[in-house]
Amino acid sequence: MCQGHKYRHARQSCCTGDSKSHLSKYTANNLLIMTLITLSPLSVFCLAELIENMDKKATWDRFYTETSSRTATFKNFEWFFGFDAVRDFIMPFLQTKSHPDALLQVLDMGCGTSALGPGIYRHSPAPVQVTCADISPIAVRLMQEHVQTQAVQPHNLSSKLEFVELDCTQLQRHYRTNVMDLIVDKGTTDALLRSKEGKVKASLVLKQCLKVLRSSGSLLQFSDEDPDARLLWLETEAQEQGVMAADVGVQEVGELRGVCYYCYQVTPRPVV
Ligand SMILES: C[S@@+](CC[C@H](N)C(=O)[O-])C[C@H]1O[C@@H](n2cnc3c(N)ncnc32)[C@H](O)[C@@H]1O
Repeated sequence: MCQGHKYRHARQSCCTGDSKSHLSKYTANNLLIMTLITLSPLSVFCLAELIENMDKKATWDRFYTETSSRTATFKNFEWFFGFDAVRDFIMPFLQTKSHPDALLQVLDMGCGTSALGPGIYRHSPAPVQVTCADISPIAVRLMQEHVQTQAVQPHNLSSKLEFVELDCTQLQRHYRTNVMDLIVDKGTTDALLRSKEGKVKASLVLKQCLKVLRSSGSLLQFSDEDPDARLLWLETEAQEQGVMAADVGVQEVGELRGVCYYCYQVTPRPVV
């Protein structure tokens, strides 16, 4: 349990939602800056620019170019934490389907150079098709090159892993409706919500996810945003009268370096 943290359900918090949201954003941005200073070679000036423009492809191309150029050998860059911190939240979703021959379809949305997607591919007992998608072709190329040199063996020999350049605000250009079993998002929606012009994109991404998810599928967002703010946002954005509805829940992932992290689960609900 995260120390000293209490949150109410979003529906009860609309009066205080704004101030809480600003407070959590302020705290989170400070942490983000600290994390990036520690982990990346970018200057403080560049960091301020990065935080405002985390919805832009050019920002991430530059980020991954600069971070990768500083080390001789490839190193995964993990936003918040790596696969091990979240595997217990993900594994229950990787169960065999009613069609034993079919691969479970998993999308790591905004994968960057994280080892999350490869971790799912490697550890899933059920056969999975893991697609790691990012808007930055630099991140995609780095990961493609990395897995080629690693030759990671999956737990289930039928599993597949691929990296694709993709703008997740346009998921439906690439996928039919009702095809994904699981979509994981570690820091991508956070990045969009925190950038100056990214809020509309964050909402679009959520709506696109709900369209491509199967009715039995789920979206998991790993985030440091306070549930008072995120649950309210999810509940509002995931509903469209007569078109779309979803169930929304939250679990604590735990505390790391004094910050509490959450796993938000969004599940499409049939529209009545
Ligand atoms: C905060 S980073 C998280 C990266 C990775 N998930 C991790 O855990 O380390 C956000 C990622 O989202 C990607 N991104 C931003 N906008 C995107 C979009 N519209 N479509 C796909 N990826 C996007 C960025 O390129 C970046 O890699």
